[in-house]
Amino acid sequence: MPPAARTSSRRRPPHDVADLSLATAGEARIDWADAQMPVLAQVRSRFGAERPLDGLRVAACLHVTAETGNLVRTLRAGGADVWLAAANPLSTQDEVAAALVLADGVAVHARRRIDRATYARHQETVAACGGPGPHLTMDDGGDLLALLHEPAADGAPTRASADLIGGTEETTAGAIRLRAMARRGELPVPVLAVHEADTHRVVENRHGTGQSALDGILRATNVLLAGRTLVVMGYGSCGRGVAARARGMGAAVTVCEVDPIKALEAKLEGFDVAPSLVAAERGDIFVTVTGNRDVLTREHFERMRDGTILANAGHFDVEISLGDLAAAADGPPVEVRPLVERYVVGGRRLHLLAGGRVVNLAAAEGYPASVMDLSFTNQALAVEALVRQPGRFAPGVHRVPQEMDAEMALLKLESLGLGIDVLSDAQSAYGRSWG
Ligand code: ADE
Repeated sequence: MPPAARTSSRRRPPHDVADLSLATAGEARIDWADAQMPVLAQVRSRFGAERPLDGLRVAACLHVTAETGNLVRTLRAGGADVWLAAANPLSTQDEVAAALVLADGVAVHARRRIDRATYARHQETVAACGGPGPHLTMDDGGDLLALLHEPAADGAPTRASADLIGGTEETTAGAIRLRAMARRGELPVPVLAVHEADTHRVVENRHGTGQSALDGILRATNVLLAGRTLVVMGYGSCGRGVAARARGMGAAVTVCEVDPIKALEAKLEGFDVAPSLVAAERGDIFVTVTGNRDVLTREHFERMRDGTILANAGHFDVEISLGDLAAAADGPPVEVRPLVERYVVGGRRLHLLAGGRVVNLAAAEGYPASVMDLSFTNQALAVEALVRQPGRFAPGVHRVPQEMDAEMALLKLESLGLGIDVLSDAQSAYGRSWG
């Protein structure tokens, strides 16, 4: 039997969501994901008993998905008041947003496909938490901490209040941005960078991006990958996942890299390696996953074949140069399917997916719940560590503590019914004897 809807009676928090009548569908979606997030569920139940976040305001700017719904429920179980904005206007699941307002009392400000101005206003609202500002922030791209700390253009003081304890950051791109702020002396609080956990790199980047980027491309286009040439631009932990999964589905994969060691690794793993201008002439499908900008530019578009598909799996929509694409095209783009725009460049049709935004979230559902189980457990434990261990982390960006990482991997293995071995005392001593 499906669980009874919890939409209710509780006083409604301030919110701006598409349609509250979607809440029951949203609860079903959150519950479906919950069944695949057993490690986070354990933390939620402990938080319910211990209430480590009692009375604290958490401002979160995350993708508003069913998986995030379970993280937010965990923070609520720990006693926090939560304000939630979207990390991308295309990834919001409107039914989840409605359920979190009605069933969980979360101040959600997120609607799918809103314009940039409304999106920015939502982030401002959430960063203010109704006036006093947050005790804790949770970012996916660094937007909230940037909003709170970057000096305003008119020289006005930053908006962070003295209540701010610290924050978490989910992505590589966000951590790079926050480290740059720290170097400029603009980040006076500690931030735990969840993506730097080993569990995150292995499970989320490789398996999460690998599967879900292809999921987004397939949902948007319904093309057959077998027999196509798929070009992966960037062979970091995300690019490796995309390359491996695409090969598994029968594509011939070419890797483009700027790092010779990564390029060599890709070659030895059986992929073709080529400079991007050479690959531009060969590929059927291009996936950018570098975390950098202008990876595909006019020079590439002008070499591409008729029917080429362009997708970005990096966090920001800067990897495919949209300005160059518009400038190279013979006219304005035409939407030929939902989330597929056709540009004609020199008589050849190039298809841009999801406006160059992160394809796994914009055209599919992001990482599967089982992957987000680890990321969001990391997030929940990270905010708990910031609160319970004041002074442990200096201002700046830190990776999550190693012991937390190992503990989480162990819990995940346990949830999968798997055990591992333990070194004997003699083996531990032998290992240590080498220095
Ligand atoms: N980032 C990547 N996948 C996600 C998901 N399913 N939910 C929230 N954030 C994500």
